[in-house]
Order: sequence, then structure tokens, then C-alpha cells
Amino acid sequence: MKLSRIRTHLALLVVIAATLAFLPAAQALTPPAQHSYAGKTVLVTGSTDGLGREVALALAADGAHVIVHGRNAERGQAVVDEITQAGKGSARFVAADFASLQAVREFADTIASTTPKLDLLVNNAGVAFTGDQPRRTSADGHELQFAVNYLAGWVLVNKLRPNLAAAGSSRIVNVASLSGSAIDFDDVMLEKPGAHGRGYGQSKLAQVTMTVALAPAFQKQGITMIALHPATMMDTTMVRGLGMPARTTVAEGRDHVMGLIKAPGLTPGGFYLQGAPGATRDPQPQDPQARAKLVALSEKLTGVAFTPR
Ligand SMILES: NC(=O)c1ccc[n+]([C@@H]2O[C@H](COP(=O)([O-])OP(=O)(O)OC[C@H]3O[C@@H](n4cnc5c(N)ncnc54)[C@H](OP(=O)(O)O)[C@@H]3O)[C@@H](O)[C@H]2O)c1
Repeated sequence: MKLSRIRTHLALLVVIAATLAFLPAAQALTPPAQHSYAGKTVLVTGSTDGLGREVALALAADGAHVIVHGRNAERGQAVVDEITQAGKGSARFVAADFASLQAVREFADTIASTTPKLDLLVNNAGVAFTGDQPRRTSADGHELQFAVNYLAGWVLVNKLRPNLAAAGSSRIVNVASLSGSAIDFDDVMLEKPGAHGRGYGQSKLAQVTMTVALAPAFQKQGITMIALHPATMMDTTMVRGLGMPARTTVAEGRDHVMGLIKAPGLTPGGFYLQGAPGATRDPQPQDPQARAKLVALSEKLTGVAFTPR
């Protein structure tokens, strides 16, 4: 090798060594820390089955105290027992039927009074029907998917906001879907002939629209709210009930959801598609007028207000 090339190589090595010496070791080598839920209290709605159940088990494995929720007490207790036997984290089951707003409000009051600090709320409970099935309504007379999948989440985020704020830094994860479709504000309860086939889609986009609308105010109190699509057609009771073949496993959905729940940084109001930042197919969540309409409607239907402070 020529002397001049050796000199160039030596100079380069000196520059690299000097740069490394001045870089803080942690910055150069360590990836940003994952959110840990060890010792934290989390609520996963609809965790007696499917995706919610898997997420509840994963959070307990991370050391969390998990509030397991659903209607079915036997399945709820089975999840609590599984967590207890695994020996990591802890759990308790609280039942509530989200097809009644009174039951959702009472459920929120129970959680609020027994959980001074709530570190994570996963709004996951959901139902899905096809347009071939009859239109169904809640105890309050609301289209059932809108009631269970969306209005219950509205009540929980707003009523549990003080408990989430008390945690200092907390998260709300709204399990929505890529299949979300725009709300027709002239027929939200889908009473027009044939309209109820859009029930699942509108309930899922409503979750995203709520997330975009509320996230900035919640963020001011240290509560990061996101919405997500976990995975497409997982092998769950919901998908089997639709009579459709599964295309993904619950484990895939769980991993996407847990990846975000534990991610070091999230975009408040963001929509995440299978673990990565994404976009909804319908742009309604980005429409300020639609957001304002949904907020006003949700307050009217539930009697639970959103304080935009
Ligand atoms: N499966 C998919 O491919 C897929 C794709 C995109 C998004 N998602 C979303 O992921 C979430 C979970 O879906 P999944 O497929 O895991 O469904 P799943 O297996 O059918 O589980 C649904 C959960 O919701 C609870 N639930 C249902 N109706 C309820 C009610 N009236 N009140 C209270 N809890 C109720 C169920 O508990 P009980 O029976 O004990 O009440 C169960 O724990 C849903 O929000 C769904 O929209 C699923």
C-alpha cells in the first residue's frame, strides 16, 4: 500500500475514534426503552376471549395488574386463574354488558373508585354482524355495534380520564379496524332499509374519529390516545360468527397490539395499521366538522361530556 493511502486510512481511524469517544455510550448503543407495565394497572375490555384475552395475558406476563372484562364470568375467571397460575402479574375480573349504557357507566364508576391510577385502557370489546343478519339494538335503543363497539368506549375514556391522568403518563388504545366506513349523520342508527350492513364499519371508524378528536386534550394530561387495526380476519369467535375464513392468527394481532402498547413513542391521535403508522380507508376522521358532530352526538346519546381543556 502506498504511504499516502496508509496516511489517509490512519486519519480516518482517528476521526472515527474521536467521534465515538464523544458520543454518549447509551445514545450510540441502546435502543429507546420499551414501556414496561410491571406493577402498573391496566384495563382490557373484552378480555374473556379472542384478541383481548391474549393482550391481557401478555400484559400480565409483563408484570401488570390486569382488570379483565367481559360478560361471561366463567371465561373471565378462567383468564384470571391462568394469570395467577403463570405467577407473573395479577388480575381481577369485572363483568359488564356494554349493550346497556347504564351498565357501562356503572362499570366505569366501579373501576374509577377502585383504581386511583389507571396506566392503560384498551378499548377492545366488540361485536360484528353481517347485513344478512337482523338489525339489533341495545337496551337504550341504539344500533348494537355502535353501542358496544363505540359508545361504551366514549363513556370509558371520558369517565376514567381523571384516573388515567393520575397515572402521570398513561395510554388509551382503541382497537378499531381498517374496515371502518363513514358515518351517515342522517342515519347513525341505520334505520334506512338495508343500511345496517354498515354497522360494524361505522362503529370502527367512529372509534378512530373519536381518537383524533379527543387525543390533543388528553395528551395535555399525559394520556396518549391512539387507534389501531390489529390484524385482518384473525381466528376469533367474532370472525367465526361471521362465517368467514380466518386469514391471520390471534397471536399476530396480539403482537401488533403489544408492540404499540409497549412502544417507546406513539403519535397522539394516530392510527396504526398492524403495528406501524397507517391511514384509514375513509378520510372522515380528518374532517373537523364530522369530528365535532360525533362529539356532540356522543355526549347527547351517553350523557357523558368531553371537557376540551
Ligand atoms: N377478529 C379480527 O380479525 C379483527 C380485525 C379487526 C379488528 N378487530 C377488533 O378486535 C376486537 C376484538 O375482536 P375479537 O375478534 O377478539 O372478538 P371476540 O373473540 O369475539 O371477543 C370479543 C370480546 O368482546 C366481549 N364482548 C362482546 N360483546 C360484549 C358486550 N355486549 N359487553 C361486553 N363485552 C362484550 C366478549 O366477551 P363476553 O362474550 O364475555 O361478553 C369478548 O371478550 C374488536 O373490537 C374487533 O372489532 C378484530
